[in-house]
Amino acid sequence: MSPKASTEVETVLRLTDITKRFGPLTANDAISFELARGEVIALLGENGAGKTTLMNILFGHYVADEGTVEAFGELLPPGDPRAALDARIGMVHQHFTLADNMTVEENITLGTQGLFSPKLDHTARKRIVDLSTNFGLSVNPRATVASLSVGERQRVEILKALYRDARILILDEPTAVLTPAEADALFRTLKLLVQNGLSIIFISHKLHEVMAVSDRVLVLRAGRLSGERKTAETNRQELAALMVGQEIAPPQVAPPRPGAPLLVFDKVSTARRGTGAFLDRVSLTLTGGEITGLAGVSGNGQAALAAVMSGVEAPSGGTISVGGQTVSDWSPRTALASGIARIPEDRHAVGSIGDMSVTENVIGERYRSERFSKRGLLDWKAARDFAEQLIHDYDVKCPSPDARIRLLSGGNMQKLILGRALDPDPIVILANQPTRGLDVGAVSYVHNRLLAARDRGAAILLISEDLEEILALSDRILVISKGKLSTPSSRGERSVRELGELMAGHAEAASHAA
Ligand SMILES: Nc1ncnc2c1ncn2[C@@H]1O[C@H](COP(=O)(O)OP(=O)(O)OP(=O)(O)O)[C@@H](O)[C@H]1O
Ligand SMILES: [Mg+2]
Repeated sequence: MSPKASTEVETVLRLTDITKRFGPLTANDAISFELARGEVIALLGENGAGKTTLMNILFGHYVADEGTVEAFGELLPPGDPRAALDARIGMVHQHFTLADNMTVEENITLGTQGLFSPKLDHTARKRIVDLSTNFGLSVNPRATVASLSVGERQRVEILKALYRDARILILDEPTAVLTPAEADALFRTLKLLVQNGLSIIFISHKLHEVMAVSDRVLVLRAGRLSGERKTAETNRQELAALMVGQEIAPPQVAPPRPGAPLLVFDKVSTARRGTGAFLDRVSLTLTGGEITGLAGVSGNGQAALAAVMSGVEAPSGGTISVGGQTVSDWSPRTALASGIARIPEDRHAVGSIGDMSVTENVIGERYRSERFSKRGLLDWKAARDFAEQLIHDYDVKCPSPDARIRLLSGGNMQKLILGRALDPDPIVILANQPTRGLDVGAVSYVHNRLLAARDRGAAILLISEDLEEILALSDRILVISKGKLSTPSSRGERSVRELGELMAGHAEAASHAA
């Protein structure tokens, strides 16, 4: 063979005819593609299309039934993450995998230090600091991982891969858990990595990110590679259509028909907490037939507000009334009994129990309700029927109601949790980041469900960091900053820029002052 000309594209990774089946389901169907040096590929596809599965095969977590993976011209032995690491492939998972009780530097060097030198040497430390400075991945090496924010944890995951000399970096929905500002910082890091010759595979459901970050887009549909575009030659509409097979229409919003106040917070405060803001005399009225959007940078009190609203935390001051009645003993049970449903922010920590079945998860807190009990015992048939109905209505891709929920793709898990919250026709709905991790089709479906709930008279609080989502759905918008709420504005009243300024903690313009 002749020596390669320097202009020739250098292929760093080659997947050939990868097929993976889970029982009757073909999660990956004869997928082939190549990744070039310095290239960023965005991998798109509906929830359950097979993206994570494919990356897990590439990284050796799963063994493909057919097909091969080659990195830098060498075949990778299947099912061997160690070999993938040695071949300089690094992976940042959809769900992080760090050891919580260890420090950042211990996590980064885990498995690379000799067994008999548990103490970090000077060069290792210096290397971490250098990588962190060079690639804009700021984090305190001595901090324990348990004390870190999600954004910081992700930086540690990336550092860990770089520390091992990764030349190919796989990021599975890295921005699903980030604030918009953190996402921008991540993109700057990715740019620096590419300039240093790394190649990247990036999974995201956010099409504007895909457009901004990638060189090439691959679209998976039901396990098959269904489309490929150069990013410069496509647009968001086309990508959405490639993914779900049709154009996505923006939600149709009927004029609001506001009803009675259903949930009223009067000067509600919460106790000081470690990180994140606490509520400082927050007054808020949720009216039936309206979606109230709560915009804000995460960590400004959203978590405290959501915890109080769902009964997880009792207020330290102020009063809460539901349907005109002041509530005294506030607990998740009373909140639920008063007709407040919640779509939790973190579907893994509070939303679901991984090793329980889909059926067990969808009845969740309602196992004592009349609908699911027969003479004091759980009515399994009613529960299973309900699970089947949700799977059908919400188009959840899952083998059966008996499957452990852990095996569902991220987005499909989210759809079930949504169905669980919206099904009993709650009068008040706390929708906390309801579309995180959902594909564009599913986002549109959820938006329509929330609007339908509003139109039948429910009061909805929509907490979202996605300003586009807030603007599309909300009848009234509030901004939360440092535990305080702005005055409300109605649809279209404040510009994106004004909202942005409030989110950044700037004082309100005089016309909005209370
Ligand atoms: N270990 C497993 N056992 C059985 N089925 C599985 C397993 N892992 C994944 N699946 C199934 O394979 C399909 C593809 O899942 P995958 O996680 O790859 O989807 P995804 O494209 O990453 O979706 P999302 O965007 O929701 O994260 C899903 O139907 C999922 O339920
Ligand atoms: Mg996935």
